[in-house]
Amino acid sequence: MKSIKLLTALIVALFTYNASAADVANGKKVADISCVACHKAGVMGAPKIGDKADWQKRMEKGLVGVEKNALNGLNSMPAKGGNPTLSDNDIKDAIAYFLDSAGVRAAANASKAKAKPKAKPAPTPVVKAVVKTVKKPKKSKVMNFNRLMKPPSEWNPPPFEDGIHDPDGEGAYMLQPPRELFTNLEKSSSGNRVDWVKTLNNGLIAPRWDKADDTKQPFVMDLNIVREVKGSMPNVVYPHKQHTQWLDCSNCHPDIFIPKKGANQISMAAILMGEKCGVCHGKVAFPVSDCRKCHSQNKKKPLVASRK
Ligand code: HEC
Ligand code: HEC
Ligand code: HEC
Ligand code: HEC
Repeated sequence: MKSIKLLTALIVALFTYNASAADVANGKKVADISCVACHKAGVMGAPKIGDKADWQKRMEKGLVGVEKNALNGLNSMPAKGGNPTLSDNDIKDAIAYFLDSAGVRAAANASKAKAKPKAKPAPTPVVKAVVKTVKKPKKSKVMNFNRLMKPPSEWNPPPFEDGIHDPDGEGAYMLQPPRELFTNLEKSSSGNRVDWVKTLNNGLIAPRWDKADDTKQPFVMDLNIVREVKGSMPNVVYPHKQHTQWLDCSNCHPDIFIPKKGANQISMAAILMGEKCGVCHGKVAFPVSDCRKCHSQNKKKPLVASRK
């Protein structure tokens, strides 16, 4: 009796699956353009193309559930792989291609979906635990990003309250709160209280240069540009080294700075308005209150001349 039921379910499932006429060839075309970026290497835990174990595990919830997740999105997997121009059938074809290349039978598993159509994939327990304990995200205020405008007790808030991360994004809840993490890093007396340059150079952190490829290294350029400052303020030394350890040339050139010494007009007013160096400093790099970090070159005192 039981086996007959199962068989019927199997046949029904097989039938419905074939009825949708998944086109593996079209699926490969779709996947090559819109899915491989993550599914080839398994970025952020994406099931890998051709990996039988990965796809068998996914198919435990049934084809219908898997298709639904690909259409609507699941954690770091964007709806339709982030390409809304794809039709629902394109997505189903791409999945048929994934299963085909991994050697996973779609139809046999699809029967489970019939039995438990509402089975919702449980989010990873870590995330769930964190989400439970968090308070409701506050609406970000104007100037909320500027740490200098806040009392010390409000420094380094959790990501979903910091005005930088999107409180509606799940990633904001996955991140370890800075206050907890920062205790082990090199201290600074300003900004978020971490000296990031020292922290990096002392090997306390090893940020990845490339999200997908952990063997890629930055191209560090050691070129200082001295910007002479009129008056008594020490000159500004702009160091390429400390920047290119983290940043790509295209983060600054040519949108923020023309790559030619002296070709850019930079002033403190502009920096304080969030332009030029102020695009980052005061937001994601040490703040403008650290005058000496930028104004680091003392002027040779023309003693005789100044006595006049
Ligand atoms: C930006 C990266 C990214 C892109 C692009 C992407 N995926 Fe995914 N995909 C993921 C990640 C990450 C997961 C695992 C999500 C999880 O289980 O938390 C996933 C999971 C899946 C799953 C399994 C769902 C389940 O229920 O377990 C399917 C099917 C899938 N993706 C299909 C696609 C298709 C089809 C495309 C292209 C149209 C695509 N993905 C593009 C990142 C991506
Ligand atoms: C954080 C921002 C930033 C990054 C990242 C950056 N630069 Fe620059 N670059 C500058 C600034 C500021 C100047 C000085 C412009 C001026 O004096 O008007 C400059 C000047 C230059 C100059 C002109 C030197 C001269 O003597 O005329 C070159 C060439 C240059 N950058 C190349 C690069 C390359 C190559 C990279 C990547 C490896 C890079 N920069 C990354 C900010 C940056
Ligand atoms: C695209 C973002 C960006 C821009 C634009 C930028 N910086 Fe930086 N800067 C950083 C980051 C990130 C660091 C390393 C982290 C830190 O020190 O906070 C850094 C570090 C530095 C350091 C090294 C400090 C140390 O401890 O050794 C100096 C000096 C500096 N920046 C000066 C400047 C000046 C001057 C300008 C404008 C001409 C500028 N930066 C523009 C992002 C930027
Ligand atoms: C992120 C780097 C950075 C920090 C931090 C910084 N400055 Fe500057 N400052 C500059 C740059 C770049 C210029 C433009 C130099 C030039 O003329 O090319 C400048 C110019 C100036 C000038 C010349 C007049 C003007 O407005 O352009 C004064 C005065 C000055 N800074 C004072 C300060 C004081 C005081 C502080 C600390 C409260 C400070 N700066 C912090 C980068 C910085």
